[in-house]
Amino acid sequence: MEITYFEEERVFQIQTPNTTYLCGIAGKDWLGHIYYGKRMEDHRAGYLMRTEEAPFTPEVNLREKASFLELFPMEYSTWGIGDFREDCLKVRTEQGYSACELHYVSHWIFDGKPELPGLPATFEGSVEKHMQPGADTSASPESCRENGKCQTLEILCRDEILKLDVILSYSVFDDTDAIARSVRIENHSQEALYLDRVYSVCLDMEDKEYEMLTLAGAWARERHMERRPLAHGRQGVASGRGESSHQEHPFLALLGKHTTQEAGEVYGMHFVYSGNFTAQAEKTQYDHVRMTMGINPEGFCWKLAPEETFQTPEVILVYSDCGLDGMTHEFHRLYRNHLIRSPWLHQKRPVLLNNWEATYFNFDAEKIFEIAREAKRLGIEMLVLDDGWFGERDTDDCSLGDWQVNEKKLPGGLTALADRITGLGMKFGLWFEPEMVSPKSRLYEAHPDWAIQIPGRPATQGRAQYVLDLSRQEIVDYVYEAVASVLRSAEISYVKWDMNRHLTDLSSYGLSGERQGELSHRYMLGVYQLQERLLQEFPNLLLENCSSGGARFDPGMLYYSPQIWCSDDTDAMERLAIQEGTALLYPLSCIGAHVSDCPNHVTGRVVPFETRGHVALAGTFGYELDVTRISEEEQNQIPGQVELYHKYNDLVREGDYYRIASAGDNHLYDCWQVTSQDRRRSLVTYIQVRARPNYHSRTIMLKGLDKDAVYELEGTGKRYSGELLMRAGLLVPEMKGDYVSVLYSLVQV
Ligand code: GLA
Repeated sequence: MEITYFEEERVFQIQTPNTTYLCGIAGKDWLGHIYYGKRMEDHRAGYLMRTEEAPFTPEVNLREKASFLELFPMEYSTWGIGDFREDCLKVRTEQGYSACELHYVSHWIFDGKPELPGLPATFEGSVEKHMQPGADTSASPESCRENGKCQTLEILCRDEILKLDVILSYSVFDDTDAIARSVRIENHSQEALYLDRVYSVCLDMEDKEYEMLTLAGAWARERHMERRPLAHGRQGVASGRGESSHQEHPFLALLGKHTTQEAGEVYGMHFVYSGNFTAQAEKTQYDHVRMTMGINPEGFCWKLAPEETFQTPEVILVYSDCGLDGMTHEFHRLYRNHLIRSPWLHQKRPVLLNNWEATYFNFDAEKIFEIAREAKRLGIEMLVLDDGWFGERDTDDCSLGDWQVNEKKLPGGLTALADRITGLGMKFGLWFEPEMVSPKSRLYEAHPDWAIQIPGRPATQGRAQYVLDLSRQEIVDYVYEAVASVLRSAEISYVKWDMNRHLTDLSSYGLSGERQGELSHRYMLGVYQLQERLLQEFPNLLLENCSSGGARFDPGMLYYSPQIWCSDDTDAMERLAIQEGTALLYPLSCIGAHVSDCPNHVTGRVVPFETRGHVALAGTFGYELDVTRISEEEQNQIPGQVELYHKYNDLVREGDYYRIASAGDNHLYDCWQVTSQDRRRSLVTYIQVRARPNYHSRTIMLKGLDKDAVYELEGTGKRYSGELLMRAGLLVPEMKGDYVSVLYSLVQV
């Protein structure tokens, strides 16, 4: 990893272990993009900016400046002067003029990486450094403590007329190929400026018949991989829902036409942000491609008063020429080593039972205790009390905001219940939905203006609730105290932080008319502040974010919680595509996955208990069913599943994930593999989605093993070389039935 500025050629060279990023100064002071791809040592590629040919730079050929602006590979594009491709920055003056032209001024290269004020972001150094005080680091493997050096390049560009400084920031790490980019905007004029659009990244390249990969979905169908050819014009994904959303994901990748899971080029971008976003690829008239990513400009406008600064969230760039596997491993490594701060990152999480699908709102202390006692007998380690413990909440249409325990259901309050549960030798966890208020609540009665709504217009309800205006500091403070005082009152080891509706009716009593466009971003800053404060006060809390399942599963939330509830869809067959799309970017240790009851509450499908267990083992693992009411046969399987969890979780949590086969492609079976970093152990999960008649054993090609080592297939005594398993494959014997599964554990001998 190294960043260098070559004075003579005026080229910035950013080197990661396997990739090179080059940008440079063309003409007098135009900052252009030169190259991003496989690592090169030679930086003299400035000719790729094409300024030695017509239309030349405006200094040489002023009359064709418009042509120059349509062609030049901009490092950060701006609106209003003639670059008609997607712009990253649109600035308006008090007079209503929108134009901005950036020129290079200076740069700095330094060790380390500054924090982004108020925002989640990757960080330098070992995880330890960013763990909260008092954290138990004993479980962190040595390898994760050593890594982490980082270097940053900041390039200052200026619009002299607006007196606007734009600082482009690039950070690289010595242990991954990822590049973290963000932008800082400073207003040094005497007047306010309005940012109508401010993206975090722009990447101009020549098209190589790219295809676009995105993650698309819906509630209960999150993050399904979708690939399509790139066409001329703009295409992409976005969210304007106030959260990263079920529907689209703040991720976009361009792949070569022939890129596969294992080979070929991939350019991936992922946004470390949880609110509105846009991610685009634009194919231009010259068959160039511009990739952009940032806060969604729709509804966004930020007033930048004199001497104020705006900081964009960060985008992670990954280039790999080793196919999707290569990209996946870079994102996983970066997130483990430089984004997730929780002391739980490298620790085995307690096997939990969440009562949501077990009881919904219909419970009392005795019922919960009965479930806990039985769960404990079966080896489950934590009881999580979900929605319905507070106010008068027996249905979903009231009491959000009234975070006082419902003593009718839970006499003696949470303290008594937590004491009884911890008395069993279990941990106790609790659900909150802190960002919301029900119209039927004492909080709303007292503070109707705390809900986000437009004065004079009946606000849209979603799941019979409104969103609290977390752009206002007094509301953030109130919400913080409401949650923290509950956590102080009982022994609570885990919090599920939920968020169950989108933002609509955008207006804040705390913002002047010209600042209303700041609400959605300020809301996110409020959420981040809340979680930051929570982790400061409760450093060992195991926090799991959630949003109607996986509507806010993004790197922004990952900075605060080491795991996120992946989907309300707990059907093991549906989970295959959901978890596959999620694992494309996130380590398995982040993916909230539970065994739930059948027929499944979302799909009505019946899947064997064993298969449900195998699928949930590829995540945080837990249960979401009434253990007192399932069949004895299923109950009897739980201790064995918990044992599997304890046996394999170190591997699943810390290992390298490989996608081997996808039922989405072949309609018959799904298969993935996790291999320890030292390649000594590997776990293969094979799921037969549909039985194929008149078929024999199937060959699956494994990955990530040591080709010269010999592996024993646990429980069989059979031995194979890594070479055989990877090149010739492993035979999976024929299995009868749909939805059946098998685990293969390989251990080096
Ligand atoms: C959301 C979550 C569920 C559950 C319910 C409770 O839908 O995704 O897991 O917590 O809320 O209301």
